[in-house]
Amino acid sequence: MTENATLHTDMGESPSSWQDFERRLQAAKSVDDLASIEQELFGRKAGAMMMALKSLHDRNPDDRRKAAEELNTWKRQLEELIVQRRRDLASPSEEMLRSSDRIDVSLELPQHEHGHLHLIPEFIRSVEEVFGRMGFDIADGPEIETEEYNFNLLNIPRDHPARDAQDTFWLKTKNPEDRLLLRTQTSPMQIRYMQSHKPPLRVIAPGKVYRKDSDATHSPMFHQFEGLMIGEDVTLANMKAIMITAIRELVSPTAEFRFRTGFFPFVEPGLEVDMRWQGDEEDSREGKWLEVVGCGMVHPNVLKNCGIDPKKYQGFAFGFGVERMIMIKHQIPDLRAFFLGDLRFLRQF
Ligand code: PHE
Repeated sequence: MTENATLHTDMGESPSSWQDFERRLQAAKSVDDLASIEQELFGRKAGAMMMALKSLHDRNPDDRRKAAEELNTWKRQLEELIVQRRRDLASPSEEMLRSSDRIDVSLELPQHEHGHLHLIPEFIRSVEEVFGRMGFDIADGPEIETEEYNFNLLNIPRDHPARDAQDTFWLKTKNPEDRLLLRTQTSPMQIRYMQSHKPPLRVIAPGKVYRKDSDATHSPMFHQFEGLMIGEDVTLANMKAIMITAIRELVSPTAEFRFRTGFFPFVEPGLEVDMRWQGDEEDSREGKWLEVVGCGMVHPNVLKNCGIDPKKYQGFAFGFGVERMIMIKHQIPDLRAFFLGDLRFLRQF
């Protein structure tokens, strides 16, 4: 086909140049433009190519053959061009993406969108830091415990009334002899640690514990951290000093607290530490003082259960309630606020 080949239709339309169509297809800016040129060209009723093909019938047989060949070449060429242009227009060029779909990674996020630790893990970090400075190791243990670790080895046999004080979530097991439960306290960690470490030893074990209980100062899941220090001459006075240091560092240097005797089968003597709190006295069983710690000198039976000679070694254990300490530190009246996930509460800290 020559540069200026021009075809005429016999239907009275103005002459159309196939090259003209070719240029227009090349220049089409959108898939819609392309479709309308395609219609002009290949529309079944009035498309220029269709008309030209029809008009072949009117030619004399000598011309017809040559003209048909030329037309068919153009037809194929233009059809291919349409396919190619449609592909180009449908898949945006890199250039186009760069200008129309900019992502500016340097934009700053609004300040309030920054996340932070929930106040419980944040507090536990400071517990680990304070006790770390006092030479305590950190241990972690299972939340699903056996009856053996949660009770028996802690000197709480099956018929002991102290079991009722911690209303237990028992797990259904295939074999009822397995006696699995959600730990009601972090104290089983005393046993686990003494079984795997030789005295002298100092350890804390933070984690979740579970009891069937819920009100302003109780939650069915809450956090404790257990502490244990065993040596040849560890005394109750050492324990008191460490309790007081922990309370002053973790809650407040001016925190008000009191020690009173308490009973736990795995310590002798046993003590409890209450802290003065500002909570809603009407709405809790606690009054002005909130029990925050159970502690005492490790019972000789417990040491024996772990293969430690109580004539040679002694020491103390303690269990702090994490949420209660934070409630006193920040004057939070209801413990359940920790677990509601309400951002208005969480963003205050
Ligand atoms: N485990 C006791 C409780 O959960 C607390 C405690 C720990 C008491 C260690 C004495 C010694 O109430």
